[in-house]
Amino acid sequence: MTNTQTTPAPTWQNRWTFILAATGSAVGLGNIWKFPYITGEYGGGAFVLVYLACILLIGVPVMIAEVLLGRLGKSDPIHSMTRLSIDARVSKSWSIVGISGVLAGLMILSFYSVVAGWAIEYVIATFRGDFANADKDGIAAQFSALLVNKQDLITYHSIFIAVTATIIAFGASRGIGIAVRVLMPVLFILLLVLLGYGIQEGDFRSALHFMFSPDFSKLSGDAVLVALGHAFFTLSLGMGAIMTYGAYMPQTSSVAKTVVTVAVLDTVIALIAGLAIFPLVFANGLEPSSGPGLMFVSLPIAFGSISNGAIFGGLFFVLVSIAALSSSISLIEPGVAWLERLNVKRWIGTLCLTLIAWGGGMACIYSNDWLETQNAWGAFEWLEHIASNIMLPLGGLFIAIFVGWKLRRGLVRKNIGIQKELFFNIWYGVLRIIAPLGIIVVFLKAVNIV
Ligand code: TRP
Repeated sequence: MTNTQTTPAPTWQNRWTFILAATGSAVGLGNIWKFPYITGEYGGGAFVLVYLACILLIGVPVMIAEVLLGRLGKSDPIHSMTRLSIDARVSKSWSIVGISGVLAGLMILSFYSVVAGWAIEYVIATFRGDFANADKDGIAAQFSALLVNKQDLITYHSIFIAVTATIIAFGASRGIGIAVRVLMPVLFILLLVLLGYGIQEGDFRSALHFMFSPDFSKLSGDAVLVALGHAFFTLSLGMGAIMTYGAYMPQTSSVAKTVVTVAVLDTVIALIAGLAIFPLVFANGLEPSSGPGLMFVSLPIAFGSISNGAIFGGLFFVLVSIAALSSSISLIEPGVAWLERLNVKRWIGTLCLTLIAWGGGMACIYSNDWLETQNAWGAFEWLEHIASNIMLPLGGLFIAIFVGWKLRRGLVRKNIGIQKELFFNIWYGVLRIIAPLGIIVVFLKAVNIV
């Protein structure tokens, strides 16, 4: 690294600031809540394998491209895309990537905050000792009781939105550093303890078998689409969040190395969460495909039986809520940054956008009867499906095409921070050909065309 010699401290520090912000955004409910439950729903091994392939072949290359766009555009996604398309002499309609990103962020925050609300409710329930010595039926009954208690669902969803709004209104990045630097490692350790519990007390062999021995006959076109969508979701990709953070990244640091670090951390945490949850699922006769409640009906079994489980479990849900918070701010920051550039005061922009997401969450709470109509889709499923499985991969497709085919190769080469020609060529080739084709094939497979 030549440039580290001239300004060693700031470069290093800034690289880490970006890694912290991007990790804070990436690691959240997607890893601990969503990954295990969709893995369970879509049959395990084969789904996990496709998901890992999507991360490696599509997620990482597109993430590098998205950070680059932020670094070159130096603004919110809409303004960045507009400016870069003018520079590249292509149509300004490329800014649609930014617009759809702001929309997708609001849609995701709507249901994200309802689930984060469940986690907040579980902080209280666990500290109160509700799960002490409870068996799996008692625990399932408590979760069901929460789902029908609209008042509580609304309260906790509103609390989560309000905290998100407060942090955003005061400037996004302040305070996140500490949360990620100190609290994420603690969350990681607690996950390892849960993993240890799963190995000792749960059915770890079945969990390993379920997650890592692929049975491709179980893999539907839908499953492949969900795996792709989740690769985008878990890396916070395809809607401009990472572009917005990339705008703060110094010119000198290597985008590629940084992105790989974040992607590895994110993937490891998701796999550990799965390996902690599934042993409990199999040892207790729970249904792996039981849906969005999976984490909430399995982990309390561990908290109910280990010593000091109430404290340990309460702390676990506190950290999950904080991880959700450091993700939720990146869902709304691009939109607020965009409004700010249009001279809307930060607090007004925050208020407007968070109110919309709050309304979306209310729609989830009122349209979803999570218990009784298992197969009927409410706002929750629609928002999750359209935003994560369609809008994010489409955003990724356009980002790949824009950076791969519309920006000058020289400009990309100069700013990407990949030193070795070979590595650059591999990344560039994957971004231009494999990632876009991969996304298109998955879309076609989902509608049964290939
Ligand atoms: N990655 C986060 C998680 O796994 C969710 C998230 C935060 C997100 N910001 C995003 C998803 C932007 C898509 C786009 O929980």
